[in-house]
Amino acid sequence: MKKKTFMDIDVSGKKVLVRVDYNVPLDENGNIIDDTRIIATLPTLTYLRKNNAKIILVTHLGRPNGSVVPKFSLKPIAKRLGQILNIEIKLSKDVVGEDAHKLVEEMNEGDVVLLENVRFHKEEEQNDEKFCKELASLADIFVNDAFGTAHRAHASTAGVSRYLPSVAGFLMNKELISISEVIDNPTKPFLVIFGGAKVSDKIGVINRLLDKATTILIGGAMAYTFIAAKGGKIGMSRFEEDKLEIAKLILEEAERRNVKILLPVDTVVSKEFIPNAVAKTVDSFNIPDGYQGMDIGKRTIKAFIKEIKKAKTIVWNGPMGVYEFDKFKKGTNKIAKAVAKSHAISVVGGGDSVAAVNATGYADRITHISTGGGATLEFLEGKLLPGVAVLDDK
Ligand code: 3PG
Repeated sequence: MKKKTFMDIDVSGKKVLVRVDYNVPLDENGNIIDDTRIIATLPTLTYLRKNNAKIILVTHLGRPNGSVVPKFSLKPIAKRLGQILNIEIKLSKDVVGEDAHKLVEEMNEGDVVLLENVRFHKEEEQNDEKFCKELASLADIFVNDAFGTAHRAHASTAGVSRYLPSVAGFLMNKELISISEVIDNPTKPFLVIFGGAKVSDKIGVINRLLDKATTILIGGAMAYTFIAAKGGKIGMSRFEEDKLEIAKLILEEAERRNVKILLPVDTVVSKEFIPNAVAKTVDSFNIPDGYQGMDIGKRTIKAFIKEIKKAKTIVWNGPMGVYEFDKFKKGTNKIAKAVAKSHAISVVGGGDSVAAVNATGYADRITHISTGGGATLEFLEGKLLPGVAVLDDK
């Protein structure tokens, strides 16, 4: 799949609508906690500015569901981007209205205008034809650099492309190439590590990777569904009852194909789901009544790290425990360190796994840190992402 990038077209003096994914985590005061997704678009922005384009940025933030929700305004993002690029970023009051048009008309080459949160309009998620046309009327070219939102068929990720020449940005291109390389031709042993809450999010990708992986490690709450499927006692741990059958089938299929699936052998448990809950470590297949799994235990960490050290290719998505509570971050952090320090080709995706890798200080040793969550999983699963499908072919 070779998509055109803006290197293949002339952008000089053109108004370029760039879809970015600046859906960044904010704290309760609206401060940006992690700006990885903003930093990741700098190659695209720098290239376009150097080549005298006028950049109109469009992104969503959060899920305001089609109405104006002040806490999801892009003000903090405009401020941060302005500090990073050391220029003034004008934030429009609307997306396709008078203010947006006025700011765009006033632009000089190299200027950057940020349109207000595109999800303040219900037409965005509806991929509304009229809205797509209006959005397109702001620009001469559409660049999609929002890999993280490429699995959504929305107006600003897909629909707008019907009215403009549409090409991939640097980040989009890098994500597509890096993830494809690992999946299409992994050097063996190929280790896949999955965590996070839900088996349902990962079924498609596990099925696809059963064809390719040597070993799959499963941690996080999704492990309890697999443990229950094998007849283990999981206490009050979070699990998906309606996924027990599919978990059984995955385990059987893995055995048939000679793919090793490792589940936790010990689990840190607590009675309460609170940050400082009193914790103890128990056998993962014998979690006492009234207790729930919060993190993988020491023996599991050791067993998982042994596999990480053997691997030549690693794909990791999802935390090993309740990453939002410091007390239960240990499993995820240890895995992050082992993956980052390994000599394998590695791809890490998903907010918590990426945050854990960044915290190790060895993030630069990861081959590719993906800015996508759901998009990375769908792409790993082999799905054609709507935001990619619409881009012009080379
Ligand atoms: C993400 O954070 O995964 C993307 O920005 C997509 O957000 P969404 O799940 O709200 O569509």
